[in-house]
Amino acid sequence: MKPKIYITRKLPEQIVNRLRGNYHVTMWEQEDIPVPRDVLEKEIEEIDGLLCLLTEQIDEALIEKAVNLKIIANMAVGYNNIDIHSAIKRGIMVTNTPGVLTETTADLTFGLLLATARRLIEAEDYLKSGQWETWSPMQLTGQDVHGATMGIIGLGRIGEALAKRAKGFDMDLVYFNRSRKYEQEKELGIEYQPLEKLLQVSDFVCVMLPLTPETTYMIGADQLDLMKETAVLINTARGGIVDEKALYQALKNRVIWAAGLDVFEEEPVSLDHPLLTLPNVVTLPHIGSASIATRLKMASLAAQNLMDGLAGDIPRNLVVL
Ligand code: DGY
Repeated sequence: MKPKIYITRKLPEQIVNRLRGNYHVTMWEQEDIPVPRDVLEKEIEEIDGLLCLLTEQIDEALIEKAVNLKIIANMAVGYNNIDIHSAIKRGIMVTNTPGVLTETTADLTFGLLLATARRLIEAEDYLKSGQWETWSPMQLTGQDVHGATMGIIGLGRIGEALAKRAKGFDMDLVYFNRSRKYEQEKELGIEYQPLEKLLQVSDFVCVMLPLTPETTYMIGADQLDLMKETAVLINTARGGIVDEKALYQALKNRVIWAAGLDVFEEEPVSLDHPLLTLPNVVTLPHIGSASIATRLKMASLAAQNLMDGLAGDIPRNLVVL
């Protein structure tokens, strides 16, 4: 009998067909609606492999229902949606999709930074709502990006790719990371600073960390207070790293100038979320990696990891603690 696989969202045919050759594949087919928890709870009892997205909470209670499960292949680089400890305790491999989304996510991060600094969304609304009556000296003026200081919190792959883009804008670069990156310091001319100092000197603070117990609410009221009044906060990592209540207060009271957010603590963010009421916030629906080519690469890599794990090989993107 073929091993059983469950895929939690409709993936492109070419990816699913690759799996169908060797496995009995079941897929949650309802486009763009996450699989209901009770369906997943039922499916997980039977399967050998799970290909899931960041929208699924693969917690201890769910993992405990799995009898034959050998591998959970997440179609994302972040894996905060999976209880890794519970999986590992039960001998279940967990994989992610690093590398293939690095450049695409860095592009989006820089685009969001530009849109926030130069008020692009507000400007378009201004034009389309018929408010544009004349050219005016200080109308819709924003912050310069070129020559400004970018502070990168978390100098992983995406942080580094962002730094490369910033160099093209003649930006000064500082970073904070749990370990020093001496090679990157030399290569990129980026300077290490303790977090407090980074917050004080940066014009743009970019959050580029994974969400872990250590990084949860790493940016709260105290950290926002340290930032410049003209500073812009950009978060394309995970919502839970920034305390949204504190951020709302800081933006409303002009403790900082603006924020660009691609991620939220609760996703999809509720339409009555206070942050969505502020003019100095640019919001996006978690689209950091959303290019056609990159999403195909992510799906393909997740499928490959799953196949490797089920074939008894060590998948190339095995998550290790
Ligand atoms: C990830 O991969 O973790 C992103 O948030 C989605 O691409």
